[in-house]
Amino acid sequence: MSQFESFPDPIPDPIFGITQLFSEESREEKINLSIGAYVDETGRVPILNVIKQAEQELIESETTKAYFPLTGDRLFNQKMGEMMFGTLPPNAFTLSTPGGTGALFLAMETLVRHMTGTIHFSNPTWANHKQIAKRCGLEIGHYPYLKKDRSGVDFDEMMRAIGEIPPGEAICLQVSCHNPTGYDLTPPQWDQVLDLVVQKGLIPLFDYAYQGFASECQTDNYPLRAYAERGQIGFVAYSCSKNFSLYGERTGALAVLTQSPEEERKVQGVLKSLVRTSYSNQPIHGTKLVAEILNSSDLTAIWHTQLSQMKERLEAMTKELSSGLNLPHLAEAHGFFTLLPISLDQVEKLRRDHAIYMPDNGRIALSALNPSNIHQVIDALKGVL
Ligand SMILES: Cc1ncc(COP(=O)(O)O)c(C=O)c1O
Repeated sequence: MSQFESFPDPIPDPIFGITQLFSEESREEKINLSIGAYVDETGRVPILNVIKQAEQELIESETTKAYFPLTGDRLFNQKMGEMMFGTLPPNAFTLSTPGGTGALFLAMETLVRHMTGTIHFSNPTWANHKQIAKRCGLEIGHYPYLKKDRSGVDFDEMMRAIGEIPPGEAICLQVSCHNPTGYDLTPPQWDQVLDLVVQKGLIPLFDYAYQGFASECQTDNYPLRAYAERGQIGFVAYSCSKNFSLYGERTGALAVLTQSPEEERKVQGVLKSLVRTSYSNQPIHGTKLVAEILNSSDLTAIWHTQLSQMKERLEAMTKELSSGLNLPHLAEAHGFFTLLPISLDQVEKLRRDHAIYMPDNGRIALSALNPSNIHQVIDALKGVL
């Protein structure tokens, strides 16, 4: 027996736990609706053709595997700024990060070390948000987001709760394709939230993991453009995992909005030190691919087409599910997920009686639906809802 003996029991991950149960299921008609990545109609996480093309070009042009500087790749950073804001605001800088999670980690470490001890998340939110915050040592608060009947955003309650957050604390806001609900704010609602955030002196951490899946890239970044115009400080964690289908390449960015070049110099210092002492350097492959695509108008055009195809498939499945279940509000969900109005008993009944697997909270992965299984899912849901 050693010191390891006294370690706490592992807490099972809710999603991976379902995947495990699913892999043990022997019925042939089984369906897994708990997948976290976009899968195509054949159930595969695709490599986009544009990525293959960029990889081919990279193989021919790449001359070194040297480390990037601590801030990552200059070209990638510039392109990320353009993706987030249209044009990088003069008071902002970007840094390459290992996926959106890497950016969230850097932002939350910076918050807890130098700015505030508390961050507020929407209820519900992506489960890992709270886990990262907890690991960084942040206290966690919540603001309501979803209506009780799960039919959309409870905007009044959300505003009321944000109004009660003490000045100087941080608030995490998902920019589009809210995970897990799929429901987003409208631009006028965003304006109200951003005004309140500024008025209260809250520090926003925007999480942008699904650009291009709600609408055109330079339309669904509205909240970031609108916030940048307000000239305030804040963080944006950006993920290229979904819109470039680059999950395992760990590609993302962190943008920081400051109020002076002197502030920027200091924040950069803190971030570089965090990078150096945690993972040391940005992974190069995915970063170079995204930079290569966004630096070529031809490749960018191909990428937009392939991104639209993923988006349109998700929209088609969402609409079909919504009309099949006669739940019109479901059609308003954007992105990868929606939360069904379903109880734990019903989730378990679906597993037991229909071999349909989803996490206990009823979050379903819309890309797991396809023309060959959607009717089976709708029929089973109609039987339990
Ligand atoms: C809301 C949200 N933020 C951030 C991430 C992190 O993505 P990445 O895989 O790039 O770390 C995800 C991934 O599922 C997500 O859903």
